[in-house]
Amino acid sequence: MRVPILTGAALLFAVSSCADVQDDSQSSDNAALGDALPGTNGATFAAAKANFLAQETADDGLGPIFNERSCALCHQTGAVGGAGENIERRYGTLTNGVFDPLANTGGSLRQLFGLGTFTVNGGQNCQSGTDANPAPGATIFAGRVTTPLFGLGLVDSLPDSAFDTLASREPAAIRGIVNRVTTALPNPLDPSQTTGGTRVGRFGWKAGVPNLGQFSADAYVNEMGITTSSCIRGVPNLAFATENRANRAPTNAIINGCPDDQNPGTDDDLVAETNNCAGGVNELQDDVANFTFFMAHLAPPVPLAIVAGTSQDRGRMLFNSAALQCSSCHRTDSDVFRSTSAGGIQAGIVFAPYSDFLVHDMGTAGDGIGNAGDSVAVTHRMRTAPLWGLRSRNKLFHDGGTTDRAAAILRHNGGAAGQGTAAANAFNALTQAQKTDLVNFLGTL
Ligand code: HEC
Ligand code: HEC
Repeated sequence: MRVPILTGAALLFAVSSCADVQDDSQSSDNAALGDALPGTNGATFAAAKANFLAQETADDGLGPIFNERSCALCHQTGAVGGAGENIERRYGTLTNGVFDPLANTGGSLRQLFGLGTFTVNGGQNCQSGTDANPAPGATIFAGRVTTPLFGLGLVDSLPDSAFDTLASREPAAIRGIVNRVTTALPNPLDPSQTTGGTRVGRFGWKAGVPNLGQFSADAYVNEMGITTSSCIRGVPNLAFATENRANRAPTNAIINGCPDDQNPGTDDDLVAETNNCAGGVNELQDDVANFTFFMAHLAPPVPLAIVAGTSQDRGRMLFNSAALQCSSCHRTDSDVFRSTSAGGIQAGIVFAPYSDFLVHDMGTAGDGIGNAGDSVAVTHRMRTAPLWGLRSRNKLFHDGGTTDRAAAILRHNGGAAGQGTAAANAFNALTQAQKTDLVNFLGTL
């Protein structure tokens, strides 16, 4: 059952730029948060957005364990697709000095809710179980706040070389790492992507995910418990076709002796629908395709204009200064941040995300979560948080631990090994008036 919900979206209207040209997003100067990119088919965008808003039930495949019933219930601050108040829980432990996500107990992501009692096979009563808290064996715990999705189609469209270029421009001491990852689910529209191939990870707090389609299928199963299959150039893709297990459940598919949910098997099974992808079918499962379309076509947030000589203007100069080096990681290179048509969006849109989408060793400021086998140093890596749209955000830093922008800057201090430590210290050494200026500049983004 697909029930559109009311969003209460506060529309933030951009102030048209006047004295200043700091807004690089040339083609969306008057866009409101949540609008579509120029050139987007309005009806398709509306349908895709409705799917992003749709609250799912057990009949749709929700669960057996899940965190929310729709994408939009988490991504909603400012407009549909925004950041959120929800802070997810991750856990793991170190075994022989390397990270162990405790995948055999459903880690590293916790699911907070379960369907409870449900019936299968005409009467067998089942229990979904819920994730135990703390998970057995877990020693490392981290929160992850929900990130905003505006403008991410532009980022998705960038070739890998864009990120190599950004890294090459960064000072050696704080240079980010291009996080090349394996593509589990390629974008069918982009011939350069293949199942099992490599692409630069750019999405999520760890830049661990290479494209928006894969993030959609991943979120659908991990946040909502809805499994999907897709067809990539005639080959079944089952990367997201298996339910999460609740902690202590004996196998992925069996919970307290029952099949995984009301519809054993894959909830939304495009492979079965298309007869094993016969005929070379090349498409994402339809919900996944809709989420992807919606996100890919969300316009970037538009910054407020800055008047020369104001506190915000002084703050911008501090942000860009060699002393603070904020802009070495939070980047706006207008020659690199230029969309391509690879994922089906308009090419040539220049944007200013205030990020490099690279991971940095943040020392003890990192969250300590990684993939199986990661060294401790790798678990300290975090993606430079994009600062566009910051004024419509609330909870900051990966754990949402503060709403105070100055406090978020001070949290860059991760000790001797942290690449953010120098910036935090330089900020700390500013006069109170300078600190206010910098924070006021952030308030224009
Ligand atoms: C329970 C809350 C929740 C739900 C439901 C949810 N998300 Fe998210 N989303 C998050 C959090 C938290 C993050 C940050 C995750 C991380 O990196 O650890 C995130 C990150 C993302 C990102 C990466 C954004 C970036 O900054 O790179 C995408 C894309 C995304 N979500 C899409 C979706 C889609 C599509 C759905 C629905 C299928 C969805 N999400 C459902 C909480 C949620
Ligand atoms: C070495 C690269 C680097 C430098 C230099 C740097 N940052 Fe960051 N910044 C990051 C990373 C990485 C994060 C995400 C950290 C996390 O949440 O774990 C971040 C997060 C932030 C956030 C929180 C954003 C959010 O969405 O929660 C703000 C605000 C911020 N930085 C501002 C600044 C300012 C201002 C400066 C200069 C004083 C600066 N940063 C310098 C890498 C950097």
